[in-house]
Amino acid sequence: MSLPFHLSQRARQTAEPPISYFMEQAVGNPGLISLAAGLVDGASLPADDVRGAVEQILRDPARAREALQYGTTQGYAPLREKILANLLALDHVSRRDLDATPDDVVVTTGSQQLLYLLGELLFDPGDIVITEAPSYFVYHGILASLGVRTLAVPMDQDGMSTDALDELLQQLERAGELGRVRLVYTVDYFQNPSGLSLSRERRRQLLDIVQRFSKQQRIFILEDAAYRELRYEGDDAPSIKSLDAGNQHVILTMTFSKPLSPGLKTGYGLLPRDLVGPLLRFKGNHDFGSSNFNQHVLDQLLANGVYDRHVEELRGAYRRKRDIFVAALREEFPASTGMRFANPEGGMYVWLTCPEGLDTGLKSPFMKACIKEGVLYVPGECCYVGNGATPCMEARLCFGVATPEELREAARRLGRAARAVGLPRRSLPRAAGCRA
Ligand SMILES: Cc1ncc(COP(=O)(O)O)c(C=O)c1O
Repeated sequence: MSLPFHLSQRARQTAEPPISYFMEQAVGNPGLISLAAGLVDGASLPADDVRGAVEQILRDPARAREALQYGTTQGYAPLREKILANLLALDHVSRRDLDATPDDVVVTTGSQQLLYLLGELLFDPGDIVITEAPSYFVYHGILASLGVRTLAVPMDQDGMSTDALDELLQQLERAGELGRVRLVYTVDYFQNPSGLSLSRERRRQLLDIVQRFSKQQRIFILEDAAYRELRYEGDDAPSIKSLDAGNQHVILTMTFSKPLSPGLKTGYGLLPRDLVGPLLRFKGNHDFGSSNFNQHVLDQLLANGVYDRHVEELRGAYRRKRDIFVAALREEFPASTGMRFANPEGGMYVWLTCPEGLDTGLKSPFMKACIKEGVLYVPGECCYVGNGATPCMEARLCFGVATPEELREAARRLGRAARAVGLPRRSLPRAAGCRA
């Protein structure tokens, strides 16, 4: 008989991520169209461009050896230069405006690694993190594993409610808990899961609030702009980072996974300067540097303009898919059915809100009917954490990976599943929360 072993407190606090369930379903049900996983468009993956970049690197023996050697913990310096230049160009600002240099950029193994490392760096058990409701559920897993107390602030069409954030911070101050607040997490462009973005006005307000409540210690904003470059219409809004004149409060994280290739698994952060050293000490313990070879490949793609061209093409491909999917959903779910969804201006997600009585939870009849029909979504309930209600009639639908024909078919399957569990064709009242 094998002896039991000790699992750390942190391991015991780490639940199985909900994504495992969706992966199992996808593998166990061939023919199933998964709108659950946030995978990117397969046809657009830049195989030829990456082959070209790899050939160029390997053709030059000195460069090849450099790329195949270990790199630095912080990341390949020429790549960090280009990352900063890209960020400055997106915000139409100069290095001086931002008080930022390539030494404030850290390259990580996906932006996920940065989210994790920042957690280890900044949070003790019982510390408070404020996030949006709903928000990126994989981040919730990190917070739970670190024993963080997560509080959530509702969103509306303009993103996180800054009034509600202000009120929450006032409450925490009255309760003597302001000193435990470490950061406010926002996915501020085409949020995963809701597709909503933080308005221009709220960006400034969010920064002002965080500065105002940074009394006993600095409260950070963790700006997760993973989808920023995937805008299909409308005007770009400045990053919150670009408003943070002293480079004090905002940790900006972005990734090459969504606009280029998740297989390269490379993300990055632009950080307040005094956070870089402590972060690198942690990253040194983790891996003392993300894949050097991948960073050289990325550097090559940025240097020869391939990256910009690719992102432009990708926007076109996703815009077409979004239009096809939203049109197919409209056909399946006319307003009279009570199903609501917006046309996201960018990103990869359509957020579906069902009429009252149509539960989308993991164990719901609707989920079962969808699996039977051969379509999978992420139940909205997986995207809520902390205080407040967990609505159970929402669903995240990712249009990233399915082909246009699959998207049309997925909408038909969702329609059949909804009708199988009784979605009437008449008008229904607006949905309300159904679980405290
Ligand atoms: C909002 C958000 N942040 C971070 C990530 C992590 O992506 P990666 O680690 O591939 O950069 C994702 C992935 O889906 C995401 O949706």
